Amino acid sequence: ARLVVLVSGSGTNLQALIDAADDPAFGAEIVAVGADRTGIAGLGRAEQAGIPTFVQRVQDHAERADWDRALTASVLGYQPDLVVSAGFMKILGAEFLTAFSGRIVNTHPALLPSFPGAHGVTDALAYGVKVTGCTVHLVDAGVDTGPIIAQGVVQVEDADYADGGEALHERIKTVERTLLVDVVGRLAREGHRIEDRKVWIPAHE
Ligand code: GRF
Repeated sequence: ARLVVLVSGSGTNLQALIDAADDPAFGAEIVAVGADRTGIAGLGRAEQAGIPTFVQRVQDHAERADWDRALTASVLGYQPDLVVSAGFMKILGAEFLTAFSGRIVNTHPALLPSFPGAHGVTDALAYGVKVTGCTVHLVDAGVDTGPIIAQGVVQVEDADYADGGEALHERIKTVERTLLVDVVGRLAREGHRIEDRKVWIPAHE
């Protein structure tokens, strides 16, 4: 399967996918990496791996819809089977969702439906939860609201309240990378089906 991965930051989830894709048995190749900004480590990781990259910045377009159209065209150009949003910090618009409907996977650093949005780690911490974690889900028109594919749990430690969630987010990302690689590999090899918000990935015969 052909993957396009979208990033906005350090790209450690991307790196986990790059490393996994080195094994032909993984069943997927990353054909391109896209970002909404330049100068991020995620793009450097792609370049290091010899993977084509592209950047579509919202501020380079008169309207948000123009950016969405340009991003859609950039991704379509690589003919992906799956689009993976791995720390991509923009909401994907209607045109993008229509072009790749049901084939966009996102990873979120909280146990959805709790704590959606750009501050899931610190929102969970502020709420005083005892466990949090990460969610891999299909993207729909909402913010972090699509059908859930897999979740991983991370215990909150007392020390986490003292560092603004830094250590907690790193522990979440450790679980997240493993979960994302497992899910993307299974989707790539087995395909999937969605029935009233339940996502089914056939067990490997
Ligand atoms: C991940 O935890 C992702 O869920 C969140 O931002 C982080 C991105 O980390 N949206 P990286 O860029 O993959 O290192």
